[in-house]
Amino acid sequence: MGVVRRAATDGVDAVSGCPIVGSPGGAPSLCPVTGAAAAFDPFSPDYLNDPAGSLRWSRDDEPVFFSPEIGYWVVTRYDDVKEVFRDNVTFSPSIALEKITATSREAEEVLESYGYAMSRTLVNEDEPAHMPRRRALMESFIPAELAHHEDMVRRITREYVDRFVDSGRADLVDQMLWEVPLTVALHFLGVPEDDMPRLRRYSVAHTVNTWGRPAPEQQVAVAEAVGGFWQLSGEIVDKIRVDPEGPGWMRYSIRQNALMPDVVTDSYVHSIMMAGIVAAHETTANASANAIRVLLENREAWDDICRDPSLIPNAVEECLRHSGSIVAWRRKATVATTIGGVPIPADAKLLIVQASANHDDRHFDHPDTLDIRRPNAGDHLSFGFGSHQCMGKNLARMEMQIFLEELTTRLPHLRIAEQEFTYLPNTSFRGPEHLWVEWDPEANPERTDPRIRDRRFELQIGVPSSRLLSHRLTVADRAEVAAGVVALTLVPAPGSRLPAWSPGAHIDLECGELSRQYSLCGDPEDRESLRVAVRMEEKSRGGSRWVHSQLKAGDQVVVRGPRNHFRLDPSAGSYIFVAGGIGITPVMALAREARRLGKYYRILYAGRSRQTMPFVGELLEEHPGRVHLYIGDEGTRMPVEELFGTTHPGTQVYACGPQRLLSALEDAMAAWPQGSLHSEHFASAGTLLDPDNEHEFEIELVDSNQTLLVPRDRTVLQVLREANIDVQSDCEEGLCGACEVRVVAGTVDHRDVVLSHAEKADGRTMMTCCSRAFGERISLSL
Ligand code: FES
Repeated sequence: MGVVRRAATDGVDAVSGCPIVGSPGGAPSLCPVTGAAAAFDPFSPDYLNDPAGSLRWSRDDEPVFFSPEIGYWVVTRYDDVKEVFRDNVTFSPSIALEKITATSREAEEVLESYGYAMSRTLVNEDEPAHMPRRRALMESFIPAELAHHEDMVRRITREYVDRFVDSGRADLVDQMLWEVPLTVALHFLGVPEDDMPRLRRYSVAHTVNTWGRPAPEQQVAVAEAVGGFWQLSGEIVDKIRVDPEGPGWMRYSIRQNALMPDVVTDSYVHSIMMAGIVAAHETTANASANAIRVLLENREAWDDICRDPSLIPNAVEECLRHSGSIVAWRRKATVATTIGGVPIPADAKLLIVQASANHDDRHFDHPDTLDIRRPNAGDHLSFGFGSHQCMGKNLARMEMQIFLEELTTRLPHLRIAEQEFTYLPNTSFRGPEHLWVEWDPEANPERTDPRIRDRRFELQIGVPSSRLLSHRLTVADRAEVAAGVVALTLVPAPGSRLPAWSPGAHIDLECGELSRQYSLCGDPEDRESLRVAVRMEEKSRGGSRWVHSQLKAGDQVVVRGPRNHFRLDPSAGSYIFVAGGIGITPVMALAREARRLGKYYRILYAGRSRQTMPFVGELLEEHPGRVHLYIGDEGTRMPVEELFGTTHPGTQVYACGPQRLLSALEDAMAAWPQGSLHSEHFASAGTLLDPDNEHEFEIELVDSNQTLLVPRDRTVLQVLREANIDVQSDCEEGLCGACEVRVVAGTVDHRDVVLSHAEKADGRTMMTCCSRAFGERISLSL
């Protein structure tokens, strides 16, 4: 990408507005704002239509850039966005509700006339104020409390669908998706419903006022509505104060206000009343409209959940990832720092674009594809991350699951009508203003079987486990590819699709009572079949023995995934692939990818004997001159120390094989830059919890200012989730690294196979699914 360089003058670049001016010694510097960065406009139709797509250039070439148009640094890659969310000290949330467009004096006067005094809320306050308040107000949001609202959400949803189910055509936004979340929000907050029509108008005004770009002539009208919203919120709080007992978050907050007036102050209650309505209403309405639209546009996905409602929880996560309602959020750098290696000055304002992060192919395979069985769909950042993560996320999830349950049950033949979608111009929230759908009422299933309306599926409050997602595949071919190694070709049922996958991925194969992980060694471009190879292990715990003794062509198998913890870093200059025995399977797919990328690579492949090493001929043919074989009974051994004793800058090493090979590599590469070695383990270190041999300990959550007890029979991960603290997970046996958290103090009893010896000794992170504390207490950055 070409860089537009303009000379800087008197502290601010005259043309670009770039804040990087001057250089040490007073010499003029060159402005780093590129042409693409200068052209970025978050209010443009292209961006509003497809924020993730319109920032693809940034994710690929310039993941952190300064936008003169809005005066913000824009952050677009998954890891960077997550890191900014995670560190709320370096990156303060204080500007999250700041107006992105300055208001005219006239509009300010209107707001003043209403006594508008929106103070800090949970969204935009710094520590130390934030966490005590969050803790004081959290109880209503924990999963056990939310479960009480399930019947209410179902009842309201059904009432709205009843109104249009026989009509054959509806605008789902106007007739359901706007009203139901508002009504649910009011019930959740415990406020009367009679002010709903006014609230509807006010809620939009708040969005435009804060995140939009109202023209000067619109600003007064917007200010009138925001002022009215503020006034109405105050009236409702006053009404509730008269009788603060009873259900609802606002009543609870008012009771907390009485108990701890210094933490939950009077003005705070008024502010969160208004902010709470917006947070609980509009984001859910938009997310639901986006989800239904994208599912109907991907008909197979819609039909899949009509057939199998157990797919709904993960479909909701995938829709939140693919087309979430929160496009971007804001933070402010409190000190000069770096993001993704880019220097960021102190006081810089940041626009962190979740919609872009959620489409980052460094984290999500084929991110533009909607895949409702995507195993890591729940990794999306649509609810933010860390201590400021959306408190209402599980209420939103519950509503979206119930909407899909109701519509796929009662209107499975729903289709999207011809229409042009429009969006409210703003930087942060996105959802179509209308969503017209059509169907043939004569074909409504309840006309022939009214009982269908009572169909219920089990809701998942919280991130659904990817372990629940399965595919039923058929063994199309079983072939012995080396002594003691069989290759299986697995195909889906006719008419079904295989999930997309990327090189390095593996599947979990149900082997009788057990589940075992096997790397995919076929071609990701092949969407007709999956290929794995399984070695008969002498000390088999049952998995490989079952495959070798029971499985034959024509059998059906249950498969979960694919999941990928061994993804190729495309930015590496070159690669060395190291395989020991059956560890060649992921290398098959990775080496093919390296060749496709046009990178230099070598394959080092070791085994006991040629007969026991699968795919040797295939490799030599596919990668001429790149394969180095080390065969024990032919007298050649891989000289790990010699090969890896000196560093190769820019080279990444991917290794899969027996533990002794991986350990030898780790030792030999001790002087290489951190992150140069990627290892794939298929066997955990034995993470099964044995309560008789454990002790209980406390975890102090430093960011949240909470202390939780981890009993002998619970993992840290389980305890965190029960306290409504989202920590991602995948394998839940110490293999993948998904559940890693930072350790602030205390000694970790590491039980994973992800961290290197040096990282374990360092003790700065731990895997919460399996590792524990050696002592009585451990402090985590959560
Ligand atoms: Fe995979 Fe913990 S979830 S290491």
